[in-house]
Amino acid sequence: MNPFKYGQIVQDKDFCQRPALIKRLSDVIEKGQNVYIQGERRIGKTSLICECVRQLKKHRLIYIDLLEVKTSDDFIKRIIAAIVSMEQKSGMVEQIFKKLAHIHPTISFDPMTGMPTIGFDGSIPFSQDSIHGILDLIYSYHSKQRSIVVVFDEFQDILNLKNSKEVLAVFRSKVQFHSDVSYLFSGSVCNKMVGIFSDPDSPFFKSATSLSVGPLDKDNFQKFLSKKFTLGKRTVVQEVWDRIFEICSDVPGDIQQFCDALWDISTKQEQITIEHIPMALETIFAHEFKGYETTLKIISGQQLQVLTGLARMGGKAPTSAEFSRGLGGIAVSSIKKSIERLINLKVVFYIEEEYRFTNPFFRAWLLFKSL
Ligand SMILES: Nc1ncnc2c1ncn2[C@@H]1O[C@H](COP(=O)(O)OP(=O)(O)OP(=O)(O)O)[C@@H](O)[C@H]1O
Ligand SMILES: [Mg+2]
Repeated sequence: MNPFKYGQIVQDKDFCQRPALIKRLSDVIEKGQNVYIQGERRIGKTSLICECVRQLKKHRLIYIDLLEVKTSDDFIKRIIAAIVSMEQKSGMVEQIFKKLAHIHPTISFDPMTGMPTIGFDGSIPFSQDSIHGILDLIYSYHSKQRSIVVVFDEFQDILNLKNSKEVLAVFRSKVQFHSDVSYLFSGSVCNKMVGIFSDPDSPFFKSATSLSVGPLDKDNFQKFLSKKFTLGKRTVVQEVWDRIFEICSDVPGDIQQFCDALWDISTKQEQITIEHIPMALETIFAHEFKGYETTLKIISGQQLQVLTGLARMGGKAPTSAEFSRGLGGIAVSSIKKSIERLINLKVVFYIEEEYRFTNPFFRAWLLFKSL
């Protein structure tokens, strides 16, 4: 069976250890401090948090995903759903239903799996009381014997709420009294996260220490992945590893996806060499090309030119005269506008002084198609 995992949280044996980060995060959690965790997409933020809490053993995790949250009602419901999910595991759903009677929760069961789904009648209007009430409910699960760790993942999406500043202010005013509970705020859109925690005008200014998640140590991660190939009676030459890490800019989720494709196109006893790389890429393209084409349909001809320029010439100096010449002399101001649009569409992002493709395989596809 293909041993590579991507697009999901990895823990335990599937988690390539990051001792220094786990140690730092454990210390923060044990002290009940708050921390904001940032790093690029698929770098391993959520897995790090889950693995860390798993290793701590004594803590319970309340995990709230704020991805694409749009209203304060949805925000509160997601927190409640996270508490219910934690209580489902310990069979205490009835108790939580009693505590939440005022907002009329409903329960239904999936006919196939028998798993319960929680809903709420009507909406929960935003007020200081409703946010404080829900945070007090969270706090009621905390005890000296069994601490809780509260995780708000994709926290930057709280800025989608129309009244985000007010929600953040009310939220912060309560969190600061839960001084023995560790709140973890994780997010991938770095400038937004920095804005929430480092802008003096933000209610969360200096309210949490920061922790950056970068790539895994290359040697360790390569060993971790090699072992999986070896168990499946395959070997991988060093040149291939170097190429994979380069194509994927060291991002673990993309590297695992690449390994997954290499596994699928190889057989037992085979040595994987540089010739396998195009074949592996083609299998990835076959899965993803519809998404690439959708992007091409919604961008202008000039934006496509800039995008392919970034694929060919890299994203370190797209406003240089040389880059402009490489695109047949497109004005620098037009290049800037195109890049802005590509960032808004989340096709590229800015990191470490360069514009990079959010999906490295899209870049490889553009080069492969010579668009
Ligand atoms: N420590 C690790 N060991 C092995 N693989 C890892 C590790 N961390 C991340 N990965 C790989 O990266 C993928 C994404 O991990 P995860 O979801 O934790 O990242 P993330 O930073 O939270 O991503 P996103 O920003 O998309 O939420 C995993 O499915 C796995 O393939
Ligand atoms: Mg995540």
